Amino acid sequence: MADQPAAPSAPSAPSAPSPSVSPQPAPAAAAAATVVSNQPQLVAAPQTEEEAEEDFDGSDADSALGDDLASSTNSITSSIYEYRAIKGRTYHSEKHDSKYFAPNDEQQMASQDITHHYLTILLEDKLFLAPVKEDAEKILDVGTGTGIWAIDVGDQFPNAEVTGTDLSPTQPVWVPPNVRFEIDDCTKEWTWASDNFDFIHMRYLFGAIADWDALIAQAYRCCKPGGWVQSCELDCIMVSDDDSIKEDSIISTFWNPLWRELSKKIGISFMVLEEKLQNKGFEAAGFVDVHEANYKIPIGGWAQDPKLAEIGEYTVMAMINDLDGYTIIPWNIVHGEDTPGYRETIAFLRRELKTLKSRGIHPYMTARYMYGRKPL
Ligand SMILES: C[S@@+](CC[C@H](N)C(=O)[O-])C[C@H]1O[C@@H](n2cnc3c(N)ncnc32)[C@H](O)[C@@H]1O
Repeated sequence: MADQPAAPSAPSAPSAPSPSVSPQPAPAAAAAATVVSNQPQLVAAPQTEEEAEEDFDGSDADSALGDDLASSTNSITSSIYEYRAIKGRTYHSEKHDSKYFAPNDEQQMASQDITHHYLTILLEDKLFLAPVKEDAEKILDVGTGTGIWAIDVGDQFPNAEVTGTDLSPTQPVWVPPNVRFEIDDCTKEWTWASDNFDFIHMRYLFGAIADWDALIAQAYRCCKPGGWVQSCELDCIMVSDDDSIKEDSIISTFWNPLWRELSKKIGISFMVLEEKLQNKGFEAAGFVDVHEANYKIPIGGWAQDPKLAEIGEYTVMAMINDLDGYTIIPWNIVHGEDTPGYRETIAFLRRELKTLKSRGIHPYMTARYMYGRKPL
């Protein structure tokens, strides 16, 4: 096995969330939320002898999957298509003063679509958890990315008008007739009318939002009385319940500290669950019937439960497909522009991610769905 490259000095390894499996206890700040979860127990499948003996040589590092206000609502102008090019990747236009960390190109979009796929498997083919009425008329997807969720919801609610918004106009042109996309910076004051949407959906906005209370308060304002707002977020660090992520693992020395340090440096959280930012936002905004569902999202196909094993295969696929996209800006911010060691560190991480199962490493990230109703 190759030696691990000397990763830049890192803060201490993260503390794992409660090792208990579903249903997980509600955090203190979420007193008003009902905690629900029907996730199967996340335990590792026993290793086969073959897996245990498997040699880790990292030689197939290139294959996709190893073994195992200012006004916010603008019409699209040409300047929005002037993506910033950084080290061969493109990022949202400088028209927005946001500094979102991930690219907006095809490679990143493929990872977003894989993510949508595993989250849909996680929810048993449902697109959301909130009890949205079938006669919903207006649905908003904030930070829609490739628009894949909005398009699927448009199919499910053919009589509803579905709007997806994002910093980047990367959504397809040919979409169901009831779906449309707009360029919008959701961190600016929303220009939507109050009491406008039956359902507002926000997913995977970690690393994008400096003020979660403000975001959720705007969603509350723009939601119709009796309508629902749902937020799904993921904490970027990986943890394990069986101490299989060792202190000298690249997950502990590079991956986890990267997100903690980045959060501190840019003042935008990549640890939305740990900081209970959704919980606080829903409570502060005034939602009722607030529900919280926590899920352990395995990284790698090591879980005993077949559905969780499948999800784990996809999570690792989404990561490996675009490790550069997820990490190059964070690396430059945390360690300094062009600090040596990036390529080696990412190559090592890629090899580790591809061999988690055979090496008996059982990481997961935690996702939280919160949804609440605006009172009548
Ligand atoms: C990880 S992707 C998630 C995409 C989509 N919500 C999903 O779950 O498939 C995050 C998206 O948020 C968008 N985003 C980041 N900052 C934003 C902002 N201030 N306003 C609107 N969208 C933003 C990014 O451009 C990106 O498309």
